[in-house]
Amino acid sequence: MNSDELFLNEAFIKNPYPFYKDLRCQSKPLWLKAEPEIKTEGTWVFSKYKDVYEVFRQTENISKDINQVRAEDNKSIFDLNLLNMDGLKHTEHRKLLMQYFSAAKIELILPLLNKKIEELLSDMLKNKEFNFVSDFAEPLPIFVIGLIIGLPFDDLKIFRNTFNDFLNSIDRFQGKNDISYLKRIEFLNSFKSYLKVIIAQKKIDEGSLLSDLLGLQRKGNLSEDELMGMIFFLFFSGHETSISLISSLFYLLKKNPSQLESLKKNHELISSAIEEALRYESPLQRSSFRIVQNTIHINGFTVQNNQQIIALIGSANRDETVFVDPDVFDIARQNNPHLAFGFGIHNCFGRLLAVTEARLAILALINSDFNFELYECTPHWKKNSFVRSLESLMCRAT
Ligand code: HEM
Repeated sequence: MNSDELFLNEAFIKNPYPFYKDLRCQSKPLWLKAEPEIKTEGTWVFSKYKDVYEVFRQTENISKDINQVRAEDNKSIFDLNLLNMDGLKHTEHRKLLMQYFSAAKIELILPLLNKKIEELLSDMLKNKEFNFVSDFAEPLPIFVIGLIIGLPFDDLKIFRNTFNDFLNSIDRFQGKNDISYLKRIEFLNSFKSYLKVIIAQKKIDEGSLLSDLLGLQRKGNLSEDELMGMIFFLFFSGHETSISLISSLFYLLKKNPSQLESLKKNHELISSAIEEALRYESPLQRSSFRIVQNTIHINGFTVQNNQQIIALIGSANRDETVFVDPDVFDIARQNNPHLAFGFGIHNCFGRLLAVTEARLAILALINSDFNFELYECTPHWKKNSFVRSLESLMCRAT
């Protein structure tokens, strides 16, 4: 079977966890043969917690630079992002960008974030029926990342409509898909043109991430493509995963009314509830690109030169050797060393931002005195094996 048949079939999209469990029972990681768009031998897919942890921990003889193996006709500025950089270049770019996501920076945007939450809530709750994903979980992270980058919310909302196509085109297990690839380029180009216009019209907020990066570009420290690639990636990674976290947590709480009641009575449970949602329905189900240069060993398993490795985060976070009753959603779980944000030098520096957004959003929601119920028994998940996110979540007032 090819990767599409394994990872994109209906049963997997509905519930990937039984398949992951089968993988964890195998003595060897899963081998997937090479995809036409990437010139490597193929990919080892690791599913056990200890192996996933090790994939993230090891750096020696592992490169993240996809451009060295990506077929020429498949390259794009999206590949110029932090997750595809190695060594000093990665360290420098990471240092530059992560300061915009520090606790101090997040503190500064809290008043606007709270105001946006109130606005979205009151608009949404005016209706008898609403779609929690498109009415609340989507606009909030788009607003926040726009604020940090320095781009107007109304503009970014327009791009959201085409983001799903983009998301599918980078679902790497899908292999080369000409239609998706063309869409990806078309989308990147339209975003690039938009940024150019905004920059030319000097519509960028002073002190924002983009205005600072433009300063670096003027000094010759950043090429135009690097700048465009960076902004695109930050916008993408800064909102897609947070949408997933907010919608999944809300859904899981509604499906588990006694836990929702406990949270209403004790707001301090919100931190462990968020960590549990991150573990139970990890927004990123697997790691990004990694290729082995020279031989490496993952807990005794040998991986050869020019072979890719992928870590299944969604599987590691349900590993029964680490988590007690892994398939039970428990907002009071005590020992929860999940790997939803990765680990090691490429770990996620958006963690604090994502968790802050989810905390404020869910607390505001449960504090509102509006009663509503889900009216779809089985939710629809996006047809994507990389990001696990609800397509929609219809609710109605009771
Ligand atoms: C629930 C929300 C989020 C989840 C689950 C998540 C997950 C992850 C994971 C698993 C990685 C590591 C991937 C790998 O090593 O292959 C990562 C990296 C990264 N994330 Fe997040 N992320 C989230 C939110 C955010 C936000 C809000 C931002 C803000 C822009 C962000 C920006 C990044 C960046 C820039 C990297 C690359 C870091 C590097 O290569 O050094 N993420 N994220």
